[in-house]
Amino acid sequence: MTIDMTRPAPEKEPERQYHFMDLLKEALEQEQTESGKTRTYSITTMGCQMNARDSEKLRGILEYIGYREAAREKDADLVIYNTCCVRENAEQKVYGKLGYLKGFKKQNPNLKICLCGCMMQEDAVLEKIQKSYPQVDLIFGTHNIYKFAELLATMEESGSRIIDIWQAHGEIVEDLPSLRKFGFKASVNIMFGCDNFCTYCIVPYVRGRERSRKPEEILKEIRDLAADGVKEIQLLGQNVNSYGRGLEEPITFAELLYKIAEIEGIERIRFMTSHPKDLSDDLIQAMRDIPQLMPHFHLPLQSGSSELLHRMNRHYDKARYLERAEALQAAVPGISLTTDIIVGFPGETEEDFEETLDVVRKVGFDSAFTFIYSPRIGTPAAVMEQAPEEVTKPRFDRLLKVLEEVIEENNQKRLHQTYHVLAESVSKNGMLTGRTETNQLVHFEAPECMIGQIVPVTLDESKIYYFIGHLERTCIIA
Ligand code: SAH
Ligand code: SF4
Ligand code: F3S
Repeated sequence: MTIDMTRPAPEKEPERQYHFMDLLKEALEQEQTESGKTRTYSITTMGCQMNARDSEKLRGILEYIGYREAAREKDADLVIYNTCCVRENAEQKVYGKLGYLKGFKKQNPNLKICLCGCMMQEDAVLEKIQKSYPQVDLIFGTHNIYKFAELLATMEESGSRIIDIWQAHGEIVEDLPSLRKFGFKASVNIMFGCDNFCTYCIVPYVRGRERSRKPEEILKEIRDLAADGVKEIQLLGQNVNSYGRGLEEPITFAELLYKIAEIEGIERIRFMTSHPKDLSDDLIQAMRDIPQLMPHFHLPLQSGSSELLHRMNRHYDKARYLERAEALQAAVPGISLTTDIIVGFPGETEEDFEETLDVVRKVGFDSAFTFIYSPRIGTPAAVMEQAPEEVTKPRFDRLLKVLEEVIEENNQKRLHQTYHVLAESVSKNGMLTGRTETNQLVHFEAPECMIGQIVPVTLDESKIYYFIGHLERTCIIA
């Protein structure tokens, strides 16, 4: 591919990136006329919704340039791994994949391998990849993802390996292309980074300081999504409850929600994640008052022990967590509460663990993400005395058992009720699958043409982590 890098590039963003996208597009078109072949890509996304959203942006840029998604990773000309480092096993997977991709390069010498995302922001990882994984062609981090087109053009033109990692974020660059997975639902970043420094967590180190997008940019994006047929939006941030801090014109998360609720066409609003320490009464009031806000709240507990919570730097205790959960349940009857729990944080005693089980029972979660503590280099907890696996693994299994009991008890209460389900896709068993207002997964028989619609479904059977239901007949009077 020949790219004319001598053409002057604008300094300003996003114009600069469009310049590189256009250069690549031209080069790709020329290549295509000559060879008759289209270049293809494959993106594997690890980690959380933040990475999923970033991958949509990478996809948007690639499709703009003229790349098309490969049917299988092994057929792709450009393989991208958008990595996560929140726990060690996420990192191990990437190293495994790199070994496997090395073989692909032998079959397809034109194959380019690109790594990006949170893991690349860790010095030790970068060093290891630089030294031991020469098969990687392009590496960038979380702060300069918007420069993807420029980096890709530089890599193509130079024919050599490009590594560009920034230690801190720059400006928030708006208005770059993005390609969504679903037509009817979309995620919207409202903020980036995190300032909370929970002692076990690496996110603040790899995602940088907390910064909020301007409300007018968020509202414009959501209006455009609504005009594009999107019915459900999910607002993303590591701690949405502190949205607006540091903006020139301060605004709270609850205030932002009221503004979003005015946008016509958006029928469902969800958000993730809320830190219990910043869960305000105003937000609880908004949950009650805004009909489009779905009755589901993800409120990470991490531990039920006040002592452990203190050492985790979470800034709330067991009593405060229970009080906030009860306030939500009182304001929004039938609300589903879900959570994240870490087992085996350094120094966790049997008593601490039992406090966690106690909160699980008292709150009655509808679902939970559970993790065994994984030490992350550079975080304060990594140098605390670690709990042995013989202790953590049985606790983890006990937690799952209690969770399943609690979830099943809740599920039984929800049976035979009719929910409104946004039909998303066809599941493996051939049924449609979608989510209730309360974010519960349901499989039900219905024609494929219902995908993207909100339909009434009655829950018939609980499978603990999902339900089987049936579509209620609807009567449409023309
Ligand atoms: N900002 C979100 C969480 C982002 S990370 C919040 O505060 O809720 C998602 C989850 O991963 C966390 O809630 C936590 O439960 C888990 N986690 C983070 N670091 C971890 C570690 N070192 N070991 C195990 N689990 C971890
Ligand atoms: Fe990590 Fe805590 Fe920030 Fe969540 S709030 S991303 S757990 S440091
Ligand atoms: Fe992982 Fe980064 Fe998200 S570390 S959990 S992908 S913010």
